[in-house]
Amino acid sequence: MHIPDLQRYKREKKKVIVVTAYDALFTRILEQAGIEAILVGDSLGMVVQGKPNTLSVTMEDMLYHTKLVAGAAQQALVIGDMPFMSYQASKEDALRNAGRFLQVGAQAVKLEGGAAMVDRVEAMTRVGIPVVGHLGMTPQSVNQYGGYKVQGKEKNQAKVLLEDAKALEAAGAVAIVLEAIPVGLAKRITEQIGIPTIGIGAGPHCDGQVLVLYDLLGMFDDFVPKFVKPYAHLKADALQALRRYKEEVEQGKFPTDHESYH
Ligand code: KIV
Repeated sequence: MHIPDLQRYKREKKKVIVVTAYDALFTRILEQAGIEAILVGDSLGMVVQGKPNTLSVTMEDMLYHTKLVAGAAQQALVIGDMPFMSYQASKEDALRNAGRFLQVGAQAVKLEGGAAMVDRVEAMTRVGIPVVGHLGMTPQSVNQYGGYKVQGKEKNQAKVLLEDAKALEAAGAVAIVLEAIPVGLAKRITEQIGIPTIGIGAGPHCDGQVLVLYDLLGMFDDFVPKFVKPYAHLKADALQALRRYKEEVEQGKFPTDHESYH
């Protein structure tokens, strides 16, 4: 998938399906499954680094994982997630850091925020860096929300989110992730902008969906939001396999002749 396909998918009402990945092995598995867009999310702070939130993830962390994913991806669109404080302080920081994602192989970057980010999105777009916006429950603002809470429930909050979405589109954003907002609001935003909305906890009317890989596979159960559907239970499978391995070694059942050299 390439950036211009996003617009085409919206026109043709074809869903944009995005999954996160952080390494080469899963990138290959996602591509084999036909996933066309991969987000190297700063969610890696939680699911890979074991931190309570995404705030400590650095540019170096993100570039390392983006390089692994982009190096393995053959067809998928790779989107690099700009970590906390890599774009908030100034437009210049934002531009330079966004460029570094493209230098390690991403085709687009994602950043959180609405009207306040318009100048960043414009500047990046002007120099050929495609930007995906992110509105609603934006995890880098978790302290402001006082926890991971659904956003846009109040009428004036919903109005601001709709205006933010329009502002990001006008600034040149190529798509917008809508996270943890009411279904009706996501539908209105989706209908009123010309770029695809990619929902996560934003209901079925978005132009596409994104999930964190380890949530989708049932590997991460520290915190499971309502919007997650585990399509597998790999943590349970892994536990079973590891316990069996331990038991078989202890009981002298592994390795057998079959796993030995002569
Ligand atoms: O970091 C991430 O994985 C994300 C998705 C949840 C959209 O931002």
